[in-house]
Amino acid sequence: MRTRPLKVALLGCGVVGSEVTRIMTTHADDLAARIGAPVELAGIAVRRPDKVREGVPAELITTDATALVKRGDIDVVIEVIGGIEPARKLITTAFEHGASVVSANKALVAADGAALHAAAEEHGADLYYEAAVAGAIPLVRPLRESLAGDKVNRVLGIVNGTTNFILDKMDTSGAGYSEALDEATALGYAEADPTADVEGFDAAAKAAILAGIAFHTRVTIDDVHREGITEVTAADIASAKRMGCTVKLLAICERAAHGESVTARVHPAMIPLTHPLASVREAYNAVFVESDAAGQLMFYGPGAGGSPTASAVLGDLVAVCRNKLSEATGPGESAYTQLPVSPMGEVVTRYHISLDVADKPGVLAQVAMVFAEHGVSIDTVRQQGKDGEASLVVVTHRAADAALSSTVEALRKLDTVRGVASIMRVEGE
Ligand code: NDP
Ligand code: HSE
Repeated sequence: MRTRPLKVALLGCGVVGSEVTRIMTTHADDLAARIGAPVELAGIAVRRPDKVREGVPAELITTDATALVKRGDIDVVIEVIGGIEPARKLITTAFEHGASVVSANKALVAADGAALHAAAEEHGADLYYEAAVAGAIPLVRPLRESLAGDKVNRVLGIVNGTTNFILDKMDTSGAGYSEALDEATALGYAEADPTADVEGFDAAAKAAILAGIAFHTRVTIDDVHREGITEVTAADIASAKRMGCTVKLLAICERAAHGESVTARVHPAMIPLTHPLASVREAYNAVFVESDAAGQLMFYGPGAGGSPTASAVLGDLVAVCRNKLSEATGPGESAYTQLPVSPMGEVVTRYHISLDVADKPGVLAQVAMVFAEHGVSIDTVRQQGKDGEASLVVVTHRAADAALSSTVEALRKLDTVRGVASIMRVEGE
């Protein structure tokens, strides 16, 4: 074993960074044996140097992250600050100074992954980011390496722990949305700005990363159709229950049937209680990968939190250090297919639509006619009337999203339709 240590700069020592520090310190001997050389924490950049950080060597703390990555003796930079800047600048500076990078930053990779990969390649460095998608679950490496010889057609799953935690609490304990979000934040699952979680940005970033790797094309967060959970109500969850379903925030990346484009979307959806994703509780994540040769694979595990995320970071650290020692680099970006990303309107799925209508003769026929005129076939209708008004719940067969949108637009114009209470996609059947 080499005795000269590989030097690691840690950028950020919050929920994830503090666990990375703990594992690097307590498992130093095992890490050295697995890598073939000791790894030494050479500096830890933070914003607030005076904050009490249990188990973190105070002499390593600095507020000058730029000076740390420019030192020249750093072999690997671990970036767990988050956000776009200064993370982007620090990572590119690290490459320029000869370091490889391990990051958990899905927002940055989904916004600018192509440029970061190009910078890594230019400087003969590695860029690894297993922790950026689904916490502890190995997903980036299986897609990038284990399935590199197969053709992936679909990636579908729950990739945000915070929103799964909130929806699970609302469904099972009747907790309120804000109460559940506060709990997820206290447990270290939420992003620094939890809007990223509840508005679906975090899951959209992960969907972009997964789609890019799975389909060997470039997908950025701007290509992903995004809806969060802020408009999911207790009534939606109750309605899902009546249908034998539950509500989950799903990320779905698909190769189009003709194979010449892909789609990527994040939105709440009803899924049957019999579907394996329905039993994914709390901040756990689960992702199905469907490919030509392997068939259907399911990845499941803790999707957020300091310790699970640090596990993924440390796995990357070991891989990157091994590459350093053998003077090699791991796989970079693979975007040779250059498949375009189709708009949401072309996505085909099923819908659950709740309408408030006048309870009088002919209304149901009128509503059904609007669906027929737009080529959307109805699967089931449930009506409940009270005091001259009725609630009408329509579940459709599979239809294009564009056709469903124009159906809803036309329904809103009917005098007898008082309002469209909710529209939710139905997946997993
Ligand atoms: P935290 O907010 O807990 O920690 C961020 C850390 O970065 C803090 O130590 C903070 O310093 C430091 N920091 C912020 N700005 C700067 C700056 N300008 N210069 C130097 N240091 C800075 O975030 P998390 O640990 O939760 O997340 C980190 C990354 O990991 C994010 O990209 C996130 O998306 C990702 N991630 C998080 C998961 C989780 O479950 N939390 C799961 C998977 C990925 P200070 O301590 O002084 O405030
Ligand atoms: N905020 C993210 C989540 C952290 O809740 O899934 C893990 O990426």
